[in-house]
Amino acid sequence: MALRTIVQVGDEVLTKKCRPVTDFNDRLHQLLDDMAETLRDAGGLGLAAPQVGVLRACAIVEQADGSYVEIVNPVIEKSSGAVEEAEGCLSLPGRYGMVLRPEKVTVKAQDRNGNPITIEAEGYTARAFCHEIDHLSGHLFTELVTEYIDPEDLR
Ligand code: CO
Repeated sequence: MALRTIVQVGDEVLTKKCRPVTDFNDRLHQLLDDMAETLRDAGGLGLAAPQVGVLRACAIVEQADGSYVEIVNPVIEKSSGAVEEAEGCLSLPGRYGMVLRPEKVTVKAQDRNGNPITIEAEGYTARAFCHEIDHLSGHLFTELVTEYIDPEDLR
């Protein structure tokens, strides 16, 4: 495993749409392993492949119990409710803003071996899935911010 550099806002790679993952090979596994190590090191709740400069549709999300789930070619199949909460991004350090997201989501994806998976999530984990899946189509949370927050107010 190796740490990868987290791409920062302003880099074009963050605005591009990812291609689907078609080969569930060692290269994908290496990417996901590296992303997990990079996320653990950075201390965020999620990381999408474009954030390490790779335009492939996969991401990692930290779940409520602290474990990581890998989602490959994910789609949000169902969502319900709406919650406005503070959100941030490892590609925009120090910027936090209020974003309206579904309260609950059902995500369909594949695991690192191509097996279909379905994940139900709520609260902050649901938010993280939405945020990471947005990255895969080139969208950043700042497009959805209703109000920016002083990081001091979050403590
Ligand atoms: Co982000």
